[in-house]
Amino acid sequence: MPDPRQLARKLLPWYDRHGRHDLPWQQDPTPYRVWVSEVMLQQTRVETVIPFFKRFVRRFPDVAALAAASENEVLHLWSGLGYYSRGRNLLAAARQVVAERGGELPDTPEALRALPGIGRSTAGAILALAHGRRAAILDGNVRRVLARYFLVREWPGGSAGAARLWQLAEICTPAKRVADYTQAIMDLGATVCTAREPDCERCPLAPDCGARREGLAALLPARRPVARRRPLRRICMLLVLRDGGDVLLERRASRGIWGGLWSLPEFADRESLLAWCVARLGRAARPERLPVLRRSFTHFDLDIEPWRLRAGAAAGRVEEAGRVWYNGHTPSSIGLPAPVRRLIEGCLHGGEGPGQESSDGKDGPLRRARPRSRRSRPPAVAR
Ligand code: ADE
Repeated sequence: MPDPRQLARKLLPWYDRHGRHDLPWQQDPTPYRVWVSEVMLQQTRVETVIPFFKRFVRRFPDVAALAAASENEVLHLWSGLGYYSRGRNLLAAARQVVAERGGELPDTPEALRALPGIGRSTAGAILALAHGRRAAILDGNVRRVLARYFLVREWPGGSAGAARLWQLAEICTPAKRVADYTQAIMDLGATVCTAREPDCERCPLAPDCGARREGLAALLPARRPVARRRPLRRICMLLVLRDGGDVLLERRASRGIWGGLWSLPEFADRESLLAWCVARLGRAARPERLPVLRRSFTHFDLDIEPWRLRAGAAAGRVEEAGRVWYNGHTPSSIGLPAPVRRLIEGCLHGGEGPGQESSDGKDGPLRRARPRSRRSRPPAVAR
């Protein structure tokens, strides 16, 4: 990994020759002007911001002038920039600064960040650009430069990626010429180390850039990972109950999920379950449907549609080779999948059957299935 403390040493000579030195907020960079420009630049390109910034500071040259404005007027001057909450926050913060601090913007990261619309990076930019204080920034341009140069493969929006990039941003920020360094790294990201088609030939960091060495410049920073969606399978299970708390079980095949455990008779779909009930007990069979349960496995989600059938005096007709009666009131220690055990307990002790969210600590919590919308996440269960 390149030495982070050397970044500024390589960047500053490039900035002196190729950086931007005549942006309007660089002329007379008071905290107020830097603040306004940084808020405008949060989601908007420099070329778009320039005329808006000039109009805004002409009409509101300082915090007091802004604080005295009506929201209508601020939004009117903001009109065309988009993201109007930025303008509203700016006005609210100006009023707060006038009311609480006599119109003087704070000069600590904590106090700046306590104002509406000022996050960690904007606070860093105000401190660095207006006060020359050693403070790190991490806007989109800086994130891209650092992720490429230091070969940070994690997605910057995730906690690990963000923590790593902030750590690098802090270490790379020099004690001297901090305002120039801050502008330099933003300029490099905006003009050379661009999102698409970075111009590595012109980059002062290219000789020891990790992404360039690995051929990954175009792929970093990493995009947000696409949520993995497991396929959803559905099965039906039948709880056949006999008087005295007996439940009919069958041994599962040794391969596949819950291999070799005892389980409830399983059916691929509702039709085959109902057909089986009619074949055994005749048309009088009245199985009742219970709430669906969702279980997550490594490669798929499983919805279990349980049905309950009280066999009563006809219980003998459902017996067949490989099936046993299991007494739910005096359970013996046989291997039962957790959801099956819970279904049995729910049926025998809980009246309406399963559906309570609970966990046995081994197989993870089981929950009543909810319909899967496109945006829904898989349930948070152990795999
Ligand atoms: N983007 C965010 N802040 C900026 C600044 N001060 N100059 C150029 N682009 C920026």
